[in-house]
Amino acid sequence: MVKIAPSILAADFGCLRDEIIKLEKAKADLIHFDVMDGHFVPNITFGPMILENLKKYSNLLFDVHLMVNNPTKFIPWYAKAGADIITFHLEASDNPIEDINLIKQYGIKAGISIKPNTEISAILPFIDDIDLILIMSVEPGFGGQKFDNNALSRIDYLRKSIKNKNIIIEVDGGINNETAKLCRDANVDILVAGTAVFKSDNYEKSIKELKGETL
Ligand code: DX5
Ligand code: ZN
Repeated sequence: MVKIAPSILAADFGCLRDEIIKLEKAKADLIHFDVMDGHFVPNITFGPMILENLKKYSNLLFDVHLMVNNPTKFIPWYAKAGADIITFHLEASDNPIEDINLIKQYGIKAGISIKPNTEISAILPFIDDIDLILIMSVEPGFGGQKFDNNALSRIDYLRKSIKNKNIIIEVDGGINNETAKLCRDANVDILVAGTAVFKSDNYEKSIKELKGETL
């Protein structure tokens, strides 16, 4: 069964605590926490203190997506703040193996994300070391963009390449009921959804629908 990770990038920042409490009640599987540094992407979001604070109000796993240059500097901050999964961008890392090992030192899951225009085979040297691959189906930086259908052939390629290795495949960007179905059919494990959940008036219903169920 596919898992849904609502991205709080699309939440109401004026009441983040209430938003994540609502997510747990709405049976979200994880909370996707988008970290942007204003350099790797032209936008700035949440520091580690926000993560540490929000952790107090939810038992859900925090899935931290680092859209930052120099992830080596940021990984310890977010690991200590309570991240359960940390994913960094292949394009931003000087030494992906070192960054993966740094994340694992904290006893949490390590992922690598890849932008839509990065050659998908660039991830292959790391598939024996990572727990998760995050396929971007939009250019990172902003919510509310349109799903890039090329992501589907990239997912297929990955599925074939990783064979029976125990790697979680997650897709991020432009997920709605229609694109969620395409991703479910492609055997994706986790769907990130910002707009589809937070701009709906019933989080539980929208999460169910993204899973292909009805309330
Ligand atoms: C984009 C972020 C996404 C974003 C998804 O850089 O990584 O997680 O919040 O938002 P939607 O679901 O609105 O495309
Ligand atoms: Zn994200």
